[in-house]
Amino acid sequence: MIDIAVLASGTGTNLAALLDLPEVREHICLVVSDRADAGALDLARRAGIPARVVQFGDFPDRRSFSLAVADAVEQAGAKGVVLAGFMRILSPEFCDRFPGRILNIHPSLLPRFPGARAVEAALEAGVEVTGVTVHFVDEQVDHGPVIRQEEVPVFPDDDADTLHQRIKTVEHRIYPEVVAQFVSGRLRL
Ligand code: GAR
Repeated sequence: MIDIAVLASGTGTNLAALLDLPEVREHICLVVSDRADAGALDLARRAGIPARVVQFGDFPDRRSFSLAVADAVEQAGAKGVVLAGFMRILSPEFCDRFPGRILNIHPSLLPRFPGARAVEAALEAGVEVTGVTVHFVDEQVDHGPVIRQEEVPVFPDDDADTLHQRIKTVEHRIYPEVVAQFVSGRLRL
């Protein structure tokens, strides 16, 4: 079994979906956010899970920020890291600390539309289908071996909110399934 830390910057709906699955919830030993106002922190506290804030601005560079997050993860006893809407780029040194043990979810069919504006970029490109990717993290942003992808249709009257909502419905179904496999040790790079 692999205990995990979940890293989240935002509202934390993906964290909420992970917490809803008991076999995942019991293996979440830490939630880390780079934002003190992240909804994910409240979710963690309500679930009785330690929550830590590590703010980018408190560090001189990306490397030292990333190493502080890695230290927090290790101190909590986590062996794996699950990114759930974590909107900071982590340095290569972070990946080296948890080789093959970092998962990410991204709201597009990677390699299309990496980055923080994936939903908007899909709309701007005029694609009829976008989707969700769950992947192992390597040293590039929103990049690494794909574990699972699922398509999501784009409707003509979609805006970023309606499309992202449809994408999140898929995220909330597939991420807990993949993370359950990961914590059980059945999913390996
Ligand atoms: C999710 O849609 C996730 O795929 C995306 O951030 C959102 C977080 O939502 N992640 C990325 O864009 C990573 N590049 P949440 O806070 O409601 O879970």
